[in-house]
Amino acid sequence: MATNLEGNKIAAAILTAGITFAVAGVIGRLLVHPTMPHQAAITIAGEVQPAAAPAAAPALDPITPLLASADVAAGQQVAQRQCASCHSFNEGGRAGVGPNLYGIVGANHAHAEGFNYSQAIRGMADKPWTYEELNAWVHSPRAYAPGNRMSYAGLNNTQQRANLIAYLRSISPNAPAP
Ligand code: HEC
Repeated sequence: MATNLEGNKIAAAILTAGITFAVAGVIGRLLVHPTMPHQAAITIAGEVQPAAAPAAAPALDPITPLLASADVAAGQQVAQRQCASCHSFNEGGRAGVGPNLYGIVGANHAHAEGFNYSQAIRGMADKPWTYEELNAWVHSPRAYAPGNRMSYAGLNNTQQRANLIAYLRSISPNAPAP
């Protein structure tokens, strides 16, 4: 009898413990709302390659070696077609939208007295316009001097730039030898 009673007590204790455990689990889930991640927190890179860095802009070929064989008359035509709407090229010529360009090769940036240059060009006023500076400017004014005021997209054709710069040289008495 005594053993039976002990057995009942043990059974009751186990039952109580089991119920307590189950209730605790239900309450626990109600309180905590566990959400299981759908993806592993750590993924191993394996095959995934980092995005390639964008290729740098190709450097501009130097214009100086092309000047000796450049066509000054063809360059004057380029100047008339692409620049003369804003620039004059004769000695003492008036400023238009842009400054007069007589003598520009070897002259300093912002060379024209009284012209209202942008800060971008005025900031280079202690540097002369060399052949290669003109090359880079005419190729892409925006890349050469960000924030400048010359609304000109740029001349991509290398031979035309060489011809044009040879023409600018021909109207620049103080131009250095290329
Ligand atoms: C839409 C008008 C316009 C056209 C087209 C144009 N320019 Fe200009 N140019 C300007 C202006 C405006 C400036 C002054 C830029 C500034 O101050 O930022 C300028 C400045 C310059 C300068 C610097 C002058 C200095 O004193 O430092 C050079 C060199 C020049 N232009 C060359 C050219 C050539 C060569 C072409 C043709 C391929 C050309 N430009 C086409 C308006 C123009």
